[in-house]
Amino acid sequence: NVLILDFGSQYTQLIARRVRELNIYCEIHPYNNLPENVSDFKAVILSGSPFSVRGEDAPHPDLSAIRGSKPLLAVCYGAQYLAHFSGGEVAPSNTREYGRANLSFVQEGEQFFENITKGSQVWMSHSDTIKKLPTGAVRLASTEDVENAAYRIENEQTYAIQFHPEVYHSTDGKQLLENFLIKIADIQPDWTPNSFVDATVAELKEKIGNDKVVLGLSGGVDSTVAAVLLHKAIGENLHCIFVNNGLLRKNEFSAVLEQYEGMGLNVKGVDASARFLDALAGESDPEGKRKIIGKIFIEVFDDEAHKIEDAKWLGQGTIYPDVIESISVNGPSVTIKSHHNVGGLPDFMKLKVVEPLRMLFKDEVRRVGASMELDPELLGRHPFPGPGLAIRILGDITPEKVTILQEVDAIFINGLKENGLYNKVWQAGAILLPVQSVGVMGDERTYENCVALRAVESTDGMTADWVNLPYEFLQKTSNAIINRVKGVNRVVYDISSKPPATIEWE
Ligand code: XMP
Repeated sequence: NVLILDFGSQYTQLIARRVRELNIYCEIHPYNNLPENVSDFKAVILSGSPFSVRGEDAPHPDLSAIRGSKPLLAVCYGAQYLAHFSGGEVAPSNTREYGRANLSFVQEGEQFFENITKGSQVWMSHSDTIKKLPTGAVRLASTEDVENAAYRIENEQTYAIQFHPEVYHSTDGKQLLENFLIKIADIQPDWTPNSFVDATVAELKEKIGNDKVVLGLSGGVDSTVAAVLLHKAIGENLHCIFVNNGLLRKNEFSAVLEQYEGMGLNVKGVDASARFLDALAGESDPEGKRKIIGKIFIEVFDDEAHKIEDAKWLGQGTIYPDVIESISVNGPSVTIKSHHNVGGLPDFMKLKVVEPLRMLFKDEVRRVGASMELDPELLGRHPFPGPGLAIRILGDITPEKVTILQEVDAIFINGLKENGLYNKVWQAGAILLPVQSVGVMGDERTYENCVALRAVESTDGMTADWVNLPYEFLQKTSNAIINRVKGVNRVVYDISSKPPATIEWE
């Protein structure tokens, strides 16, 4: 178990990603809110920070419980912090210390730099520099501009580096983390999806006992994997609810429901389409639509949950990035928002929350799903927004518009699958525009709807670029849509990146 103390760097999550890639479990905690069981962690990593150690508001935590008693790796701000308070000197740097650099000196015979040689590329991002090393420090590496790029403290397992091993551009970054965690801190790299499943199932059994759990399935990866883990732990005491809000993809409700039943889950499908569509009638504001859908969902879910006698727990598919965003709200990170999945429980539901995936990143959820032999097609599904087609029908929503868009979307998505393009795209869908245009079909003039197709590449949805789909594919798709979907006479392809556009149109 590794503890990462977050000083607010934009790269803190990346440190966790790299550590997990070594099959070592780690947790991120804000520097000003240490977990109670600090002594259980086998090593500690201090993150970077947007602050200067010399600044008045800078994080200055008490590390006496950690330093000297545990292997400690201080990155960037962390390295400066150790220097500043232990007899060293930190000052603004006068040379360029952003971006790539190469190690011009590496101390020989150091376990920390095993398999890393002079010339190795590292990534710097700091405006202060360590002018003088702290007491008892030995310099381990330099770059042309940064003399004290790495050091260790004698008679301690304390290591410090000015560069960022977690970013992709530090080519030996993973090796360095491996040297520190496996060779120096002597941690076993035994954290795998299988070990996670075994440990989590045992933990859930112990925590939940014979209580009943209610969980809302969405058809997405997270809620499905969470449900399967809970099902392994408590079997029929897990009651799943899958709500049709009338804004899902074509045939999605019945197909996914069948799939859930096939997996042995105790699931109830609730078709509340009419209730959602009635409530949405006449609403054309995007945020207004989201609010209505959120409210009705809670009402429907609550009605259903009340039918399950004595339910004590609410299961959720919350994942780690959501948790980090919400726990850091009062911590040091600058770019945070609270997330709808966390703490979003309405008071009247009075259930305890259980979130088996709250420590996993998205790709880890997929690996855990794969290790439980979930259908690869399910695990590879594109993300789909909670409000569904409501935010892809621009303007007000009618059942007729939903049907048109479902047909268009199905032609596009099935086409991607049939042409081996689906897995090359991060997210795709169709948008029904509030635009009518003139066309000609046979000898008739038409005046009908226009749809836009959107397919993007992304890793996390935060930034995205449009996908260069083959012209021939677009041509076939456009023909199929116009010929087969009544009410559509024009198809356009969205070639905007995010930013400045967003993935969804609303
Ligand atoms: P944008 O449009 O902001 O979308 O670039 C980024 C990602 O978030 C999804 N999205 C939502 N998901 N509720 C959701 O559950 C929403 O209201 C919502 N709005 C956007 C979007 O599909 C994309 O994956």
